[in-house]
Amino acid sequence: MLSKQQIKRYRAAEPITELGKIFKKHRTDKFSFHRYDRVYEWLLSDFRFRTDIRLLEIGVQGGGSLRAWEEYLPYAEIVGLDKNPRAADLRFSRAQVLTGNSANSELLRSLGQFDIIIDDGDHGPISQMQVFCDLWPSARQLYVIEDLNFSRDNTTTKQIAELAVLNTKSRGADHAAEYWIIFANELLAFKRVPQ
Ligand SMILES: C[S@@+](CC[C@H](N)C(=O)[O-])C[C@H]1O[C@@H](n2cnc3c(N)ncnc32)[C@H](O)[C@@H]1O
Repeated sequence: MLSKQQIKRYRAAEPITELGKIFKKHRTDKFSFHRYDRVYEWLLSDFRFRTDIRLLEIGVQGGGSLRAWEEYLPYAEIVGLDKNPRAADLRFSRAQVLTGNSANSELLRSLGQFDIIIDDGDHGPISQMQVFCDLWPSARQLYVIEDLNFSRDNTTTKQIAELAVLNTKSRGADHAAEYWIIFANELLAFKRVPQ
């Protein structure tokens, strides 16, 4: 098994994407260790200059990723949700920040529909599953869960994907038309295929 240092070295050697430069500029950890630019560039390039896109990210912290989305998706509506009230004091050119806990299912369901939903908040598998079950019906096109490597038990990424699908199915959600992508055992993306 590769050490964290080895993984970091291999990843650093990967060519930097345009989105990677944007992540780096805005100092989100989506670039530093994870190199999520490689998967996000692929997942999001079709949305790039669209004017009808709504994006929700759970987990704002210093605002780096919301600023990166503002730059990469210049016409999209960007919404961030964080349980830390200090996130609401951050200033953005377009993004709107809401304060709240993603454990609050009622709050999540009241946020409306989004084309892209990203869960970069609480990185525990139980929370990731609950948030997915609450928000999958609100995801029009893409749902991403980041940092599954931080999971506090031995659940694998594939098990989380399978359980998430089973859980939402048992609640009556239509899963017939979606598939998932696993990136480096750390990021899970569910895509809804157009009918
Ligand atoms: C990894 S940071 C987000 C980083 C940011 N997305 C970026 O890439 O620059 C995680 C954030 O999620 C927030 N958070 C953790 N658990 C949460 C929860 N249950 N509900 C809402 N926000 C949560 C934390 O307050 C923290 O600001």
